[in-house]
Amino acid sequence: MLIVQEVAPRDGLQIEPVWVPTETKVALIDALSAAGFTRIEGGSFVSPRAIPALRDGDEVFRAIQRRPGVIYVALVPNLKGAQRALDAGADELNLVMSASQTHNRANMRMTRDQSLAGFRDIAMAVGDAPSAAASLNGTLATAFGCPFEGRIDEDLVMLIVEQYLELGMQGITLADTTGMANPRQVARMVRRVLERVPAPALTLHFHNTRGLGLANVLAAYDAGARRFDASLGGLGGCPFAPGASGNICTEDLVNMCEEMAIPTGIDLPALIALSRTLPPLLGHELPGQVAKAGRNRDLHPAPQDLIAA
Ligand code: COA
Ligand code: ZN
Repeated sequence: MLIVQEVAPRDGLQIEPVWVPTETKVALIDALSAAGFTRIEGGSFVSPRAIPALRDGDEVFRAIQRRPGVIYVALVPNLKGAQRALDAGADELNLVMSASQTHNRANMRMTRDQSLAGFRDIAMAVGDAPSAAASLNGTLATAFGCPFEGRIDEDLVMLIVEQYLELGMQGITLADTTGMANPRQVARMVRRVLERVPAPALTLHFHNTRGLGLANVLAAYDAGARRFDASLGGLGGCPFAPGASGNICTEDLVNMCEEMAIPTGIDLPALIALSRTLPPLLGHELPGQVAKAGRNRDLHPAPQDLIAA
């Protein structure tokens, strides 16, 4: 089994210049819930000046149809965002900081220590909340390379993983914000992190900026990772990282899994149909391949279909 966390409503839409109306975002998330995802990042609770495209996160989270068994995740940079996300009913807060000090300043306008101090406040606030229902996931952005600083020290990544665990985070995400990771590096890092974190709690977040996205997924999977972020159509990117481009494409990932007999629980035809609604909505083509090409079996009918025809 491979768990796909769909991030198009967050990473996908955050960089789009067109305004996607609140009801369209809600319809997208509802369609993703119906397609079989168990985890959907539905939006971010950041400064509306930083990411105007997602300024309606509160309304979106309040309006979605909550399907039992689906975890609706909210990206959060600070205590204010955590409080908004909890008020709007998020099931999980995804706290984001970069391994690279330079990218953290560009993206979050904070040093890493300031980000961590904020996360500590959030962990205390969630612990004190009457329901205490929300779980915490810590994302480490630029974990495999930074567009400003270049190489990222692997020991630094491990140190921050330890800091996240000390804060009580239940999940850890290693994010390749601008697609700088390669499969051997990914396998090495996944093995190291899995010595400290159980496989169900580790997520890999890849961007396909240099065409290595699915190769990195397979390297991580073979090293023991089981949870991956992906974005419908291959949308996505961080507006505060030069040269950023889309996440790995969800339907391409699910198609690869189906071809290799790795179950995902996701309805691929429904996903392809949903992905094909995006270009008219956003006004441009998307990088995903399978929505354009179709599945293998869509092109080669089974013998019984030929006889029926
Ligand atoms: N949600 C809504 N508003 C927020 C907020 C949040 N989570 N955090 C801060 N603000 C508001 C403050 O209330 C303040 O508003 P005011 O000017 O009307 O009083 C304003 O934003 C500035 O607050 P400050 O704490 O000084 O923030 P900043 O300007 O230093 O920015 C962040 C810090 C973290 C809020 C901002 O850099 C950010 O939102 N970054 C996220 C970027 C992102 O989402 N990147 C892609 C995903 S990785
Ligand atoms: Zn991303």
